[in-house]
Amino acid sequence: MKRIDHIAVAVPNLESALAYYRDTLGLECIGIETVEEQGVRVAKLDAGNTHIELLEPIGPETPVGKFIAKRGAGLHHICMAVEDIDHELDRLKQCQTRLIDNEPKIGAGGARIAFVHPASTGGVLMELSQPSPDGSH
Ligand code: CO
Repeated sequence: MKRIDHIAVAVPNLESALAYYRDTLGLECIGIETVEEQGVRVAKLDAGNTHIELLEPIGPETPVGKFIAKRGAGLHHICMAVEDIDHELDRLKQCQTRLIDNEPKIGAGGARIAFVHPASTGGVLMELSQPSPDGSH
């Protein structure tokens, strides 16, 4: 793992958060999409050599909805880019890492993703992401 793909921030309202990040902070929004499997609407912002993703839950019973209800808006996860997510998951399992996703799922931009439990990473929810071959993520 050599690069942060994105840092994700959980927000209750995507439009108001996006207005601040884009119009006040000056970050360019490069796309908004709904990722049903993760239960979020995502606004992706260009942050130079990485991205910031604003995550709005699509309902209160989604993981991000529960996160906001319990802890409020804030830093949700850090995502590391990986070249071969199957290999990385196998490697982490052998290292007794606690995984949330034992198998990859489909995330924003068609990337193959999996989450690592904060219990193994010093309290930080960590996502691994293998970009889709067309490079859209
Ligand atoms: Co993410």
